[in-house]
Formats: sequence, C-alpha cells, structure tokens
Amino acid sequence: MDLETVKQRAGPREFSPKDDMPEEYRKAATRMIQFHANSEIMGAYLERPFIRQAPSLERKLAFSAKTQDEIGHGQLLYRAAESLGIKTRDEMLDELANGEGKFLNCFHYPMESWVETPMIAFFVDGAAMRRQATLKSTSWEPYAHAMDKVCFEEGFHVKHGEAILHELMTGSKKEQEMTQEAFNTWWPRIIQFFGPTDKQSTHHGFASEVGLKQKSNDELRRAFLNTYIPKAEKYGLEIPDTPRIEKNDDGTYNVHEEDLDWDEFFQIAKNEYEPGRGQIDARKAGQEAVAWVRESMDNHEQRLYGSTTQQAAD
Ligand SMILES: [Fe+2]
Ligand SMILES: [Fe+2]
Repeated sequence: MDLETVKQRAGPREFSPKDDMPEEYRKAATRMIQFHANSEIMGAYLERPFIRQAPSLERKLAFSAKTQDEIGHGQLLYRAAESLGIKTRDEMLDELANGEGKFLNCFHYPMESWVETPMIAFFVDGAAMRRQATLKSTSWEPYAHAMDKVCFEEGFHVKHGEAILHELMTGSKKEQEMTQEAFNTWWPRIIQFFGPTDKQSTHHGFASEVGLKQKSNDELRRAFLNTYIPKAEKYGLEIPDTPRIEKNDDGTYNVHEEDLDWDEFFQIAKNEYEPGRGQIDARKAGQEAVAWVRESMDNHEQRLYGSTTQQAAD
C-alpha cells in the first residue's frame, strides 16, 4: 500500500498485520507504541518501591496489583509494536535497558515519599487515561485492541490514586502540607506529560495524517486541565502560580506554556537528565537480574522445537 492510500483510508482500527503497510507508517507506529510500552514499564519501576511503603495491607495489595498491571500493559504494547515487523520485543527491552529507549518525562523524576504516589497514580494516570482513550481509535488495530484492556485497568488506577489523595488531604495538617508540596513539584511536569506544544512537536503531523494519533498534544493538555484542575481543588490542593493558568469565561483553562521548563523537558527526551539516570540504571539491573530466566527459556524452546520463538520470528 502506498502512503497516499494509507492517508485516504486512515481511520479507527483500519490497518492490521494482514495489510502491506509502507515502511514510513510502520516506523512511525513502532516509535509511538514502543515509547508507550517503555513508559508503562518505567512507571512501574518508579512505583515499585512504594509497595513496601504502603501504610496498610489493603494499600499494599492495591498498589502491587496496580504495578503488575503496568508491567502487563508494557508487555501487551511490545507485542502490538512487534506486529509492525520493525523491531522485536527483545530488541525493544534491550534498548530500554541500554538507555536508548525513550519514555515519558514524568518517569524520569525520582520519587521519594509516599505523599508523591497520588501524583503518579491520580494525576499522571489521569493524564494517561485522557490520551489512551483517544488511542482506542488509532489506525493500527493491534494498538487499539491493546488500549481496550489498558483503559479498563487505568480506570481502577485512577480511582486508587484518588483514594490515596483523598486520604492524605483529609489527614493530619502535616500530611496535607506534604501533599501540597509534592503537588507543587509535580504539577509542571504533569502538564508537560502531553509532550511538546503543537508548535514544537515534530511527529504530530504525520501521525495524525495516517490516523495513528487522534488529538494533538495541546488539545489533550487542555482537556486534562479542564477536568483535573477542579478535581485538585476539590481535594483542597492549591494550583501553583507557575505556570500561569487563566480561567476562561466558559470555565475552561489556558496555560502559559512558555512558563514551563522546555529545556529540561528536551534534555529528558534525550535520556540526558542526570537525576533520571537512576531510573534507567534500575531498569538495566532488573533486566540483567532475570537474564538467566530468558536464557533457560530459550534453551528449553531450542531443545523442544530446534529454534526459539525469537529465531522463528526472524
Ligand atoms: Fe498503564
Ligand atoms: Fe496506570
């Protein structure tokens, strides 16, 4: 299929592995899905230490279920990316461990305290929900299909994060202050979650022409602010002064995007943000720690079938 035909036909769940897709499409879709898969894994790594810090058994159970879900989302998405025939799942996991794989800005920042957990589980997952709901209509069918399960589980994640936020904001004065402080730190990063402004975004044009993306970064960011500013205020959080945000007459919000630190954002986008190295190194250590499992499974397959799944795919 040539690119012009792809653009004409582009629509929700229009293309699948049975279609002969041009390389430009397959590369763009791989880039997008791999980024998404990496982000799921790196989000789980950021949250994993807090399973032990959760303040009750119920919270521990919910937190570990959520973290396992995120790893599952990552695996599902690597399979969806693999179906484009550009990279294998193993290659993508290696790229992530080697520090070449790109992932969401928020998961580059270290997280130190339990009061920060709703910043991810409520606000970042809420932001993710915004984007992922639109991806149910992406043109690559395996990606859209993965989003059915992912969105269903994200609904639980957001409720879980909201419950933690509610508990902290109705807790002691100290807890409320610490949560507000965490919010002040995370708020600008969360607004940047949706990526560079439309003016700066280099990938949006093509991705939307071929139906991979439905909404632009700025549209998603505004939709998120319109929903989540009222929610933050409902729980007693004060919206920080920076970046400046204005309320329009119709109740919607506008953010001064020039108030955000885009230099830091683009440094992160290149995996060159120093405090984020710890996250990538943790992933590398995790990958190496289970190398023996992968090797023994490969050996087992080799003995049974004479080749591994990986070799068969090649
Ligand atoms: Fe997820
Ligand atoms: Fe999630």
